[in-house]
Amino acid sequence: MARKKLVAGNWKMNTTLGEAKSLAAAVAAGSTASAADVAVCVPYPWLIPVAESLRGSKVGLGAQNCSSHKSGAYTGEVSTGMLLEAGCRYVIVGHSERRHGLGETDAVVNAKAKAALAAGLRTIFCVGELLAEREAKQTEAVLERQIRHGLRDLPTDRLANLVVAYEPFWAIGTGKVATPEQAQEAHAFIRKEVSTLLGGTLAGSLPILYGGSVTAENAASLFARPDVDGGLVGGASLKADSFLKIVGAA
Ligand code: PGA
Repeated sequence: MARKKLVAGNWKMNTTLGEAKSLAAAVAAGSTASAADVAVCVPYPWLIPVAESLRGSKVGLGAQNCSSHKSGAYTGEVSTGMLLEAGCRYVIVGHSERRHGLGETDAVVNAKAKAALAAGLRTIFCVGELLAEREAKQTEAVLERQIRHGLRDLPTDRLANLVVAYEPFWAIGTGKVATPEQAQEAHAFIRKEVSTLLGGTLAGSLPILYGGSVTAENAASLFARPDVDGGLVGGASLKADSFLKIVGAA
């Protein structure tokens, strides 16, 4: 089944306001002819000004996290309703830097995925194994656990907005990209697991992105694999020219 590719930039905790606005404007200007969907996931305080820079373009605005709660006494948290009002169409949940650096469990990520989908956001749900887990041949067991726990009880009428990102932790920000074969193998496994959990039709149309040291140089060979439907790009999304080359490779 033909799936539309998606390239999403994850700026993480980078950029000044000025840098964010000019990067977004350059991405918007350079993406007009792209056949793929394009998004940038930016720091919370830059959402509204970046929404302005993207206005009228095909680039979707995204956040890097959200609360699972609608509103209330959750100091420092940001709700999906706030993201929508700020102009977001996308949100990342379960990024490995949050799972491993900030202690987000499968249950927490599941609650966020439910909230994000229920709000109508295109939800980029991240999974991936640690280096020690890969070396211990636990990759599939880890992915299976993250998918079965993280994607349980989702709002069934909103699943068209689900995106999965496979991000092996050892490849993130390390320059150590997964080979196209490693990515394809993991993506095919993820699609099979999603098929078991949510059905073959949904699994067949689900975009599965690869993330972890994607660059302008390696993107085309990754995106050429049958189950790799685009990328979630960190470091290389901070420069318009490298990010636009990756968009061009999709
Ligand atoms: P990287 O980050 O491209 O810098 O490896 C990817 C990510 O963490 O989403």
